[in-house]
Amino acid sequence: MLKMSKHLQNSLVRPDRKPCDPADLGLDADCNLAKANRLVSLKLERVNLDDQSRFFRDFGLTASELSQSHRTYYCETGAMPLVEVTKADHNRLAGLTFALSASEFERAEKAAAQISIASTPDAIEVPAPGQLTLRLTRNPDKAFGKPSSPVAATRGANQENDRWIAPSRVMKLGHVVLQSRDPLAAVRFYRKWLGLIPTDVQVLPSGRPVVIFLRLDLGDEPADHHTLVIAQSYKDGFDHAAFETASLDEVGFGHQHLKAKGWRHSWGIGRHWLGGQLFDYWRDPAGAHFEHYADSDTYTSKHPSQITEFSRASLYSWGDDLPTSFTGRPKLSELPGILRDIRKGDLNWTVLREMQAAAKVAPRSWLK
Ligand SMILES: [Fe+2]
Repeated sequence: MLKMSKHLQNSLVRPDRKPCDPADLGLDADCNLAKANRLVSLKLERVNLDDQSRFFRDFGLTASELSQSHRTYYCETGAMPLVEVTKADHNRLAGLTFALSASEFERAEKAAAQISIASTPDAIEVPAPGQLTLRLTRNPDKAFGKPSSPVAATRGANQENDRWIAPSRVMKLGHVVLQSRDPLAAVRFYRKWLGLIPTDVQVLPSGRPVVIFLRLDLGDEPADHHTLVIAQSYKDGFDHAAFETASLDEVGFGHQHLKAKGWRHSWGIGRHWLGGQLFDYWRDPAGAHFEHYADSDTYTSKHPSQITEFSRASLYSWGDDLPTSFTGRPKLSELPGILRDIRKGDLNWTVLREMQAAAKVAPRSWLK
């Protein structure tokens, strides 16, 4: 167990980060069915597709209209869509797609057949916690799963940086953060089907894990610090999706462009501590967060999982404080459902209170 130290959160001293065993924290899957090698895309449902297209265009994604009610969005490097949006009478995340090598896909196929989940030759759709669909696709191209590592462009003498304000050059869908009423169960589910490795686990003073950063198991190949994050919440939902840009500079150019187009800024530009990325968060027309990032920490599968105390301080090393508006509060209309979940035991009130108290500790005493 980590020794919690509130004074660290208001000082220049770096928080503790120590190796840990995920099994000790209740984060081990009962079995490993398959290993994914890439996060491919997310599936959204949106009331207004035109507004969504305007946002994604300014964010750096190009649209392809498949029908009146179905659009897909691409970045400049990909033949595969990174986002799929279907028209609906509500806004929500409907699913995630991960790619698996041919041999891993066969393992997943066998596991799916044993529990009567149907599959096609190239895809398996598994019901996931929070009424999501986890889609597994066959991907025989090994290089497909390799993370890019953006670096600042280098120029020689008499060469100018001629880039001007424009949408960020997006290179890939990097990670998704999900809110969960039961993060331990959600982590066990995604570890079971995708073979993910906990990189960093944030715990409360009681030792309860509340934010779990999971990375792909690519063996000796370096994988991004996190591809999926599960965070304790009062509801199951979507926190944000993050897209890697071609360079550090592209985060800044995109920031100016989104600002110029009048979109709502959420948080940044800053540097994450857990993950190490340069980040910038924006809200789409539905109020969901979308992040540009560059320069993530990467790890091979051998690197041990680490534990750190849950705090706002440990989310970033520099930049403005995380705004309180970022996480949001339950709506009045959500309160009956929350109370029902607490009564049924689906939601742990003590954990929520403890998390709320930890989140209230100001991260930087010199930032007002
Ligand atoms: Fe993120």
